Amino acid sequence: MDENLPLNEYVNHHKGSYDQFYKESLENPEKFWQEHSKIIDWYRNFDQVLDQSSAPFYRWFTNGKLNVSYNALDRHVKSFRRNKAAIIWVGEDGREKIVTYHGLLKRVNAFAKALIDSGIRKGDRVAIYLPMVIETPVVMLACARIGAVFTVIFSGFGASAIAERINDCGAKVVITADGGRRNGKIIPLKNIVDEALEDTKTVETVIVLKNTQNEVDMVEGRDFWYHEVASDERALVEPERMDSNDPLFILYTSGTTGKPKGVVHGNGGYSVWVSNTLKWAFDPKEDDRWWCAADIGWITGHSYIVFAPLLLGLTSIMYEGSITYPGPDRMWQIVEKYGVNILYTSPTAIRMLMRYGDSYPKKYDLSSLRILGSVGEPINPAAWHWFYSVIGSDRCPIIDTYWQTETGGFIISPSANLGIGPLKPGSATFPMPGIAPVILDENGNECKENEKGYICIQRPWPGMMLTLNGDDERYVKVYFSRFPGRYFNGDFAMKDKDGYYWLLGRSDEVIKVSGHRLGTIEIEDALVSFPEISEAAVISKPDNVKGEAIISFVIPKRGITPDRHLSERIKKEVRERLGPIIVPEEIHFVESLPKTRSGKIMRRVLKAVYLNQIPGDLTTLENEASVEDIKNAIEMLKKEKI
Ligand code: PRX
Repeated sequence: MDENLPLNEYVNHHKGSYDQFYKESLENPEKFWQEHSKIIDWYRNFDQVLDQSSAPFYRWFTNGKLNVSYNALDRHVKSFRRNKAAIIWVGEDGREKIVTYHGLLKRVNAFAKALIDSGIRKGDRVAIYLPMVIETPVVMLACARIGAVFTVIFSGFGASAIAERINDCGAKVVITADGGRRNGKIIPLKNIVDEALEDTKTVETVIVLKNTQNEVDMVEGRDFWYHEVASDERALVEPERMDSNDPLFILYTSGTTGKPKGVVHGNGGYSVWVSNTLKWAFDPKEDDRWWCAADIGWITGHSYIVFAPLLLGLTSIMYEGSITYPGPDRMWQIVEKYGVNILYTSPTAIRMLMRYGDSYPKKYDLSSLRILGSVGEPINPAAWHWFYSVIGSDRCPIIDTYWQTETGGFIISPSANLGIGPLKPGSATFPMPGIAPVILDENGNECKENEKGYICIQRPWPGMMLTLNGDDERYVKVYFSRFPGRYFNGDFAMKDKDGYYWLLGRSDEVIKVSGHRLGTIEIEDALVSFPEISEAAVISKPDNVKGEAIISFVIPKRGITPDRHLSERIKKEVRERLGPIIVPEEIHFVESLPKTRSGKIMRRVLKAVYLNQIPGDLTTLENEASVEDIKNAIEMLKKEKI
């Protein structure tokens, strides 16, 4: 794991400046952020770089006024970038759309007007349930333009996940499409929204994009076609002057307990953070084709397909569908066709493509690639080496970016632009400027070299969330109470003798399936909603491709005799309700679950028994018989009795 690669020339070229730069960011943050906030054009300069008076509700660039869509579009349209490609969109069927900065601004203005015509104003909440189409960034930027706070709901989520998010944020309008394409199939998005809206009260308007041409029901007075409401190509909507700390968007993410958390990001700090971090980590050049192969439904897509690249005036590639359809060479085909210079993807995608062997990438000319990137989970050395050698021909540094929905942008990552010396496969290397990490043990003492502990951040940084939607108390409790005064992010990490950070997975009950962050509680809630089930517990097992896979243990209600038919039906319905990534791979029927005396399910015991490991301290276990019961259930499934 600790093997040093041959020194990479690109990285070595700049070696040294990172240390000085990083030092300045911590020693003189006022001056540092004064300078680096200039990456954004402000209507009104801020009074103070950082207001800590209501910590941990840190406020950056106080009283500064800006508009994110102005910064992402108008200022480029006034410059030499007017006719530069802002977004290159690649459809699943090979269609392409190239939208220039000028073209994108026109579309954003047209949709901003549609929103205003629907009665949406600054501060109103807008839900976006769209597939990976050009209109997704258009709608996000239109909201940013008028100051409406949007929440993008991943288009793989099902009706109950949509309803929950709409209810939490109080969305007045939903923007969706007739359908989305994935793996040659059409996902009927509008139908799913209709089902979700049966459980919501706030939505007055639904705007539907015609995308896949499938039949949909339109509700008179509520539902409108996108192309009809956003038809005014000459519309000019003056950008709203937003306060730096006005919310820009809410993105829901999973935690250990309770319903998903609505992470709120602001206008000023977030924009300054995402644009600077993209610049520092990936060193993009004016003529680069930047491809972040993520989905806009997650934070990676928000920050690094839409906001950061457009704020920097780059050309951002986005693609529809999956990377293995119509064939496992799709990614390499796109790299060759568009001459991608920087490719940013996930360990799951790398592992998946690696399984198909070297012949697919070898068929294509990948020489345009200069830098590679990874995000979402720790990258295992085998995947790292394959990416480095087979895809990057041993020339391109791998920028392993560690961050979270809550952090807005990268927090630990190599900095190609600043230079940091040799990379170590599997380590995200060093903190971004302004980030002061610390690794603590159970008691809050700093861990020694190579000692695993909880990674925390000791100071605020501009990209950090403002709060959790409607729940300031939960924000303080989740992130700032475990180690008071420090941001606790739930991950294990360790620092080696050379100061490199190694991320070692979650310390809580959050699961990562193909890089998607899921809370055990959400899946358990879905399981116990079946009339046949009284209790449920979910754990994960390691998976060679997906990173982790979902394993569930359920107690059937009295009188129910579980069989394979029931478990298949549950899997199918959970998938329909929560979305295709959330499928329990195995369902084990048990009579009891291991619990503490206070009734808390001990998932760590379940996991240890499942993985044939020693379950550790069982003194708080209420019912030891449950452990035997679980072993039997696992054996039963192995023998395919159920
Ligand atoms: O556990 C860490 C893991 O993903 C979590 C954040 O998930 P999410 O909010 O969905 O954001 C994903 C995209 C940033 C983290 O708490 N994680 C993310 N990137 C890495 C990582 N673990 C190790 N290495 C990474 N590069």
